[in-house]
Amino acid sequence: MRTILSAFVLLCLLLTCVVLLPGHSLAQSLRQDPVDQQNPIGGAVPGDTLGVNSQSDYWRAVREGVNGNVSIPDKKAGTLIQSEGEAWRSLRNGPLSLYASWALLGTIVILGLFYAIRGRIRIEAGPSDKTITRFREVERLGHWMLAVSFVILGLTGLNILYGRYVLKPLIGDGAFGFITQMGKYLHNYLAFAFMAGLVMILVMWVKHNLPDRTDIKWLLQGGGMFSSKLHPPAKKFNAGQKILFWLVIVGGVSLSISGWALMFPFTTHFFAGTFGKINMILGTELPTALTVLQEQQLNSLWHSIMAVFMICVIFGHIYIGSIGMERAFDAMGSGEVDLNWAKEHHSLWVEENQDDIHDAPGSGSAPQPAE
Ligand code: HEM
Repeated sequence: MRTILSAFVLLCLLLTCVVLLPGHSLAQSLRQDPVDQQNPIGGAVPGDTLGVNSQSDYWRAVREGVNGNVSIPDKKAGTLIQSEGEAWRSLRNGPLSLYASWALLGTIVILGLFYAIRGRIRIEAGPSDKTITRFREVERLGHWMLAVSFVILGLTGLNILYGRYVLKPLIGDGAFGFITQMGKYLHNYLAFAFMAGLVMILVMWVKHNLPDRTDIKWLLQGGGMFSSKLHPPAKKFNAGQKILFWLVIVGGVSLSISGWALMFPFTTHFFAGTFGKINMILGTELPTALTVLQEQQLNSLWHSIMAVFMICVIFGHIYIGSIGMERAFDAMGSGEVDLNWAKEHHSLWVEENQDDIHDAPGSGSAPQPAE
């Protein structure tokens, strides 16, 4: 009886050891929960590629966008998760779109208020029977190439930013898809007409847009914008127009460069270089080790911000060149402006260009054809 009891105790001890022995398959199978059975490698990367690195460190690095190595030509594929992409998306679709829409609507409201208070700026002396040549054909060609391409680029660009919220519910998916696709082609190709127009006006008008002493007086008198009696002297372009000119040149170049970078993605490093120079000058610590993807995201944000800023500026220009000022449009329409208009807005320029004064078509003093 004692022998049997001893043998039983020994058997129990042996069994306990076998079951609890670490690494033993029976012990493992008894300790595994149902989830582990479905996931036999327990979340580990197959092939034991991690070596001594911990799982959490590995995935943390992936989440932080650390670049791995890939053997395919597109090295961007080495970044599994690019968190800046999410930051870019939420900034673009959130605050950027919101503040941009306020800026656009705000500009329209301000111009509307200005029109309501000041009304149309009239020729104080009334129309004359003479005109003076303001812009020749080539100048008007450059202006309209720039203007028409800008307007179409602006509309198609705004469609890319807001179309899915504003246009799509109105016209439906199919029409919106078609319009957006066509708009994208226009946006890409008209960018070149815009750049050509920009070069043309730069070459033709730069010498008339250099600042001089007359600009100070013009600015101090608010350009005569707020009083019909004030007509501060100005040459071909007044200080307000010079500001517009340089905004168009600098803004246009900036839009062109960032647009170029978007059209030919992953080929430029404008931001890393610019940040490096800013750090050098201002002692800031802007990031200079940017991946091509981050460059692309910054380009996209910058392009949208500059575009909206320029559209607001151009709203003001279109207003004053059309409904805001009597007979202003003629300058870019026929190229001939009323002499009294020119004397009120560009008196110094009129004095220098007496040879360009003609009788207005249809005026009594115009030469009559021989009978
Ligand atoms: C689409 C409607 C537009 C209209 C009706 C318009 C009208 C005019 C007019 C009448 C002038 C001559 C002003 C003068 O005689 O002193 C002018 C000049 C000018 N325009 Fe436009 N424009 C338009 C669009 C644009 C756009 C989109 C740009 C640039 C992106 C632009 C850039 C300029 C510049 C730089 C000048 C010379 C400086 C100045 O006069 O302010 N224009 N425009």
